[in-house]
Amino acid sequence: MSGVPFVDLKAQYARLKPQIAEAIQDVLDDGRYILGPAVTRLESELAEYCGVRHAISCSSGTDAIFMPLLAYGVAPGDAVFVPSFTFTATAEAILLAGASPVFVDVEADSFNIDLADLERKISETRAGGKLKPKAILAVDLFGLPADWDELNKLAERDGLHLISDAAQSFGGVYHGKRVGTLAPVSGTSFFPAKPLGCYGDGGAILTDDDDLAEILKSIRVHGAGSHRYEVIRIGINGRLDSIQAAILSVKLSVFDSELDDRERVSRIYDEALKDVVTVPKRIDGVRSAWAQYTIRTDKRAALQEKLTEADIPTMIYYPTPMHFQAPYAPHGGGEGSLPVSETICDEVMSLPMHPYLSDDDAKRIAATVRGALA
Ligand SMILES: Cc1ncc(COP(=O)(O)O)c(C=O)c1O
Repeated sequence: MSGVPFVDLKAQYARLKPQIAEAIQDVLDDGRYILGPAVTRLESELAEYCGVRHAISCSSGTDAIFMPLLAYGVAPGDAVFVPSFTFTATAEAILLAGASPVFVDVEADSFNIDLADLERKISETRAGGKLKPKAILAVDLFGLPADWDELNKLAERDGLHLISDAAQSFGGVYHGKRVGTLAPVSGTSFFPAKPLGCYGDGGAILTDDDDLAEILKSIRVHGAGSHRYEVIRIGINGRLDSIQAAILSVKLSVFDSELDDRERVSRIYDEALKDVVTVPKRIDGVRSAWAQYTIRTDKRAALQEKLTEADIPTMIYYPTPMHFQAPYAPHGGGEGSLPVSETICDEVMSLPMHPYLSDDDAKRIAATVRGALA
């Protein structure tokens, strides 16, 4: 089965080619290449799509979580609680803000932050007296929303800011509410391979908080005040290009049908694989955006080798927990401190997942997995 891509951006482009060409041409004709009208339009479309008051587009998913940390004044001496099983950008944003990550374990089935361990880490940090608990930065890993009702309760009870790293979950739904509305502020990524991706780097911050939105818009343009050359705080160059915004508007018009197709592929995999590997958790009332379809098996190395031989691409997201990575290790508790994160890094493997994967290809991939494990 040669030629099945892990993510098929070319098939999506073929579907949308004339609309994308027209959208890019409109920006070229208009000439406002940064934060132009295409960006304003996209921001209202994103806000409407999520059901949120403000969508502030920005330069990447990394900046979409870094800017809220700056806006909340997260600084040296502050502790930010973060899962260890995530992409580096989640933890990186905390260190870039000058604060200290406190790594929390995840649940083996949902891959999302473990609330019991989170409560433990908050109490320990408070008791330790060295760092001030300031914020929780939780992740919707692989597209599945975390337990936001409980996270909101916990953050409110403990007086902590709550930020959602929704880089992988834009389009996901949690008990009737869309990702972007689940935490006081959420940051998402439009990296090309994400469920909603542009043709370069991009991201967005989603919030109902009017004051926070104003601060974020200032941070996005170097901390500008009432005019461009008045500086009222330290910010970054965090803007989205108009061409990327125009491309995203076109892609948003077919996004719901793409989410349905991701769901279709996930169901085929589930059905064919549930008795041979651990398939991703499903939660009643919660819908994943299926950024990844990630299985767990203790025979990963052999399975991956056989799939590679069969020309089926796979990825290991993620091979190493963050508390083992060199820049973060001094903030972590070392080997054995977060047993679930450490174990699943040896077991997880992601299969090809995109809306343009046919039923036949998904079934054949699943059959190859079954055959390899037989
Ligand atoms: C969980 C998570 N957070 C943050 C990011 C950062 O997004 P970007 O690559 O757009 O900066 C990513 C991207 O891979 C991610 O997967």
